[in-house]
Amino acid sequence: MTPCQEKAPILRNQRLQGSYYRVDLRAEQIAATVAPGQFVHVQLPAFEHHVLRRPFSVFNAEPATGTLSLIYKTVGEGTAHLSGLGAGVGLDLLGPLGHGYSVPPPGQTAVVVAGGYGCAATYLLVRRSPGPCIVLLGGRTAEDLLLVDEFTALGADVRLATDDGSRGHRGVVTDLLEAALEQTANPFVVACGPNPMLKAVCRLVDRRGLDAEVSLDHAMCCGVGACFACVVKLTADNADGWEYVRTCKSGPVFPARLVRWDEG
Ligand code: FES
Repeated sequence: MTPCQEKAPILRNQRLQGSYYRVDLRAEQIAATVAPGQFVHVQLPAFEHHVLRRPFSVFNAEPATGTLSLIYKTVGEGTAHLSGLGAGVGLDLLGPLGHGYSVPPPGQTAVVVAGGYGCAATYLLVRRSPGPCIVLLGGRTAEDLLLVDEFTALGADVRLATDDGSRGHRGVVTDLLEAALEQTANPFVVACGPNPMLKAVCRLVDRRGLDAEVSLDHAMCCGVGACFACVVKLTADNADGWEYVRTCKSGPVFPARLVRWDEG
């Protein structure tokens, strides 16, 4: 699907918890075509003199109303600025961009592993899955566990883990993955979150002879394949046995078995 550029007015922009926010936008073309795991590249009004946009995973899309929703964390100047914008302000969006998740085949149970607000990138996948879903959400504290009610409302079996034990299992979310895979005959594993978590997911599924789809957390500049700032090394079926690919074009979602974590 060819990406488009769309001026998207803010419908609502609200704090969820801690430093996490949700912004709903009217973006009819992108909402109609976005696939789970794809992202949009956003230019903020106060940063129009900047060449670079900022990538945001798409949380939800409602084609019937043309509503596109993003979840973000205020981590710097740009997202702090975004958090202060109100209804009616227009954001310049480019999207949908990248290669997202496969929809789980009928007969398989989707096992979603998400760290922090990485869960936003998996919501559409759970919503569009034809079969049962187990959603494993992890964070440092209870404040980092997002969308628990939203995933539960989709009928998912939601399980929680926090590093400090303030909610759910005390430990890392991959502890929950071990247990979920023990209980699931035909899992379709997908993951999104910080790279150390993704690396642990890749190792765990590999030990079990399974694959997974992981959305890599990589810095981006142009977002459209022009600058090569986002290359990662993957195993490839060529004479060298590997290749560099652009996360923004070929990813951000890749098969876990192809990712070469410890090679630049
Ligand atoms: Fe420029 Fe990927 S961000 S090529």
